[in-house]
Amino acid sequence: MGAYTKEINRRRTFAIISHPDAGKTTLTEKFLLYGGAINLAGSVKGKATARHAVSDWMEIEKERGISVTSSVLQFEYDGFCINILDTPGHQDFSEDTYRTLMAADSAVMVIDANKGVEPQTRKLFKVCAMRGIPIFTFINKLDRDVDDMFALLDEIESELGIATCPINWPIGSGKAFQGVYDREKECIYKFTDTEKGTKEGAVTEVSVSDRDGLVNLIGENATDILLDEIELLDGASAEFDLSRVHAGKLTPVFFGSALTNFGVEEFLKHFLDMTTTPLSRVADCGEIIPDEHDFSAFVFKIQANMNKNHRDRIAFMRICSGKFDATKEVRHVQGGKTLRLSQPQQIMANERKILEEAYAGDIIGVFDPGIFSIGDTVCAPKENFRYAGIPTFAPEHFARVRQVDTMKRKQFVKGINQIAQEGAIQIFQEFNSGMEEVIVGVVGVLQFDVLKYRMENEYNVEIRLENLPYEHIRWIENKEIDLNKIVGTSDMKKVCDLKGNPLLLFVNSWSIGMTLDRNKDLVLSEFGTAE
Ligand code: G4P
Repeated sequence: MGAYTKEINRRRTFAIISHPDAGKTTLTEKFLLYGGAINLAGSVKGKATARHAVSDWMEIEKERGISVTSSVLQFEYDGFCINILDTPGHQDFSEDTYRTLMAADSAVMVIDANKGVEPQTRKLFKVCAMRGIPIFTFINKLDRDVDDMFALLDEIESELGIATCPINWPIGSGKAFQGVYDREKECIYKFTDTEKGTKEGAVTEVSVSDRDGLVNLIGENATDILLDEIELLDGASAEFDLSRVHAGKLTPVFFGSALTNFGVEEFLKHFLDMTTTPLSRVADCGEIIPDEHDFSAFVFKIQANMNKNHRDRIAFMRICSGKFDATKEVRHVQGGKTLRLSQPQQIMANERKILEEAYAGDIIGVFDPGIFSIGDTVCAPKENFRYAGIPTFAPEHFARVRQVDTMKRKQFVKGINQIAQEGAIQIFQEFNSGMEEVIVGVVGVLQFDVLKYRMENEYNVEIRLENLPYEHIRWIENKEIDLNKIVGTSDMKKVCDLKGNPLLLFVNSWSIGMTLDRNKDLVLSEFGTAE
């Protein structure tokens, strides 16, 4: 047992993934409420108040027109130290959202019971599935009528390709939503109405073998329906198997309503129990076990110019092993230097706290004088290993960039390259051409505005963006293939990235299929390989 095993083992670091409006913010706020991290009573209602308390920082950045960030929330609950990585949605969606997932050990997927699997959930799920991390499903908004719960499970299985195992089952929905049936304990929990924004009220528990007790509690009709559904469920759903959950092959499913607090604390308890302690990570020297190694971390995000007065950058690091001690020096492996991390902070929503120490599982933000890149490793001075890098995620929006004043060529090239190196945008060149034709790709369209703003403000170069119709990009896995010989559709474009990797741009997914059909030996990938 390592010196920090106890601290590390009580950490749970996860991201909440969902499509906008499924209830991620509401659920996060309820978690914070249970942890006592915020005094929520009355403040949950209304987007204008509590909602923005947790994302103020993002708002500020948005107003200033610069890159929007995901924040990290840390709180204590029942002896656990919980780190929630916030993944911004809506128009804030960017490559950073995906990168944030690289720092998580598991994910909570929130699904609106009436909407099912939506596009953004699908995209975020794919990244989690690529990493094989455990994914827990919370089906939300049961306080609204839901037609067919079984169909919803089928949809998750067929759309996402993951087996589902309901841990509990809702008793009714909409106004008739009374509580949940706990499959392991074989009893029901009936919720009592609570005031919004307060903790869950008293819960009454009755075993399902006690039919009279059930009828008394939830009524005859609900009892009959529930007993039928339990039978169906036992016949149809996958067996619970924690090792499959940990391998990302089976998702435990929970039902509830974040708004009314129903089922939220049950979910949190089960989730904390089932999810993993900080995971080991692979480095070039092998696997790094969190409580057996000295301090190590990797940079998963770089936030430029967070402070208007100082053009500083913050590098966000996920601690992978050991203990971070602010008084000690660390090695920045890629930079080949030993240094003391400057102003280590824990970034909690709109509040920042200077840190003295942190443990594997935690996220810290450090002042970056421009030395860190995404994917860099930081470790104890006596060590010298590198963590596997962070893949590049496929942009979905593309534009051709032109500088307005052609005399400013140098600044243009410098600016666009630096911003790309920070990871805010990806740049591509036409196959067989130089920097004359620059194509920029982004995951979320807001990044185009960020690029324009930063080029003007930081590099004094005015640019013009001309939208391109491409929506899909694929990296060519078998790089030895002769790019000239690839026969694609007429709307396909051959480009290469900053590192010279060959890629193909497509207008629609049909063209991808067609191109694969026409070039049998071509292997395409949705993720660019990490360095
Ligand atoms: P997001 O972060 O995933 O985008 O979702 P968010 O929590 O902001 O919730 C989106 C909307 O859904 C909000 O309503 C919120 O109140 C509502 N909501 C969240 N959980 C539940 C639930 O369990 N049941 C029901 N019925 N609604 C839920 P809004 O009208 O957009 O905002 P507000 O003015 O109510 O805050």
